[in-house]
Amino acid sequence: MTDERMIGMNKKIAARMDMLEPSGIRKVNEKALAMERAGEKVLHFEIGRPDFDTPEYIKKACEKSLEAGDVFYTSNFGSMELRTAIAEKLRKQNHIDYKPTEILVTVGLSEAVFDVLCSILDEGDEILVPDPVWINYKNVPRLLGAVPVSFGLKEETGFQIDLAEVRSKVTGKTKALVLISPNNPTGGVLSEETLRGLAEIAIENDLMVIADEVYERLVFDGERHISIASLPGMKERTFTMNGLSKAYSMTGWRLGYVAAPEEYIAVLNKIHQHNTTCAPSFVQTASITALRDETDEVERMVAEYSRRRDYAVRAINGIPGLSCQTPKGAFYIFINAKKLGVSSARLADYLLDHAKIAMVPGDVFGPGGEGYLRMSFANSYENIIEGCERLRRAVEELRG
Ligand SMILES: Cc1ncc(COP(=O)(O)O)c(C=O)c1O
Repeated sequence: MTDERMIGMNKKIAARMDMLEPSGIRKVNEKALAMERAGEKVLHFEIGRPDFDTPEYIKKACEKSLEAGDVFYTSNFGSMELRTAIAEKLRKQNHIDYKPTEILVTVGLSEAVFDVLCSILDEGDEILVPDPVWINYKNVPRLLGAVPVSFGLKEETGFQIDLAEVRSKVTGKTKALVLISPNNPTGGVLSEETLRGLAEIAIENDLMVIADEVYERLVFDGERHISIASLPGMKERTFTMNGLSKAYSMTGWRLGYVAAPEEYIAVLNKIHQHNTTCAPSFVQTASITALRDETDEVERMVAEYSRRRDYAVRAINGIPGLSCQTPKGAFYIFINAKKLGVSSARLADYLLDHAKIAMVPGDVFGPGGEGYLRMSFANSYENIIEGCERLRRAVEELRG
């Protein structure tokens, strides 16, 4: 197009796009990658993805599926065999009795989150979300004209939820409550007592619960993940959300699901149909094998995460000016850097520039994350040792 023809042309970007902030995690990642392209050796602790390969038996199942010509659309709900395998998993591991028809298969849990929020939030509705939080839970409601109302996850309580605070934030406009356990970015795991209290609040106030359980298998020290939908009176008001990304190291396969009462599944499917149609057919087939023929590889990955976590927690707590709790789940350490007296954003920038270590500034996850850094320990033991040493030296220099 010529320059003259472009004169007077306005950008046609919808006003609602101002509601979406670009991902602060990706921003750090892009900068780290640019530094690598320029020849620097950056250690990556910013991205929340397992560093293991997908277990071989799952890859083989995918190859077989492709060879068998499994390359077409499936039912938009997901193949009945996969939905059946998911229902079996939810019964066995989570003690919730879902029928296959109460399950929708999505393109990653990210899609399920979008579908669920679209299906329940009208303009002006309120939704209770933790602070800090995986940011989709704030941005998507905003995009829909709804209002995310935050409640705190406080380090002093091991990042549990203060029930009185949640109760105090419920209004006539509150439709739902978001729970992420094990949590990103804090690594906290909600206790049974907290979950029972939250269930009571949801029932008393007729709220839906969005239970994000994507990290459920990554729990340490004998900690037990409990699904809120398994508590009395909760299945009918819960969206149990999960996927294969984190447990089986399958982030690139994009397989998620939501389990909920059938009337909600029907509505969710309408958004899903207008968005992705169905999850890839061969990924669905391989996911049946992933769930049904599980080996000990998940346990082995968890044991390795635990070893890395123990090293990193010890090393960080030995650095003057920094401290951290031992995360009970997921693969994140939420490092308290408040004593250093600089903002999270400046500190993360300084660490990337001076020590070549990429971490996410805590404020990316909301105001409750200011003063923290999120470090992912989904990286090799050797890189964690090296990263903690770089962190120690950089913080020492900063303190002068
Ligand atoms: C809390 C939480 N929910 C959902 C997701 C999305 O997972 P998926 O890869 O299944 O889209 C993530 C990914 O980091 C996450 O941290």
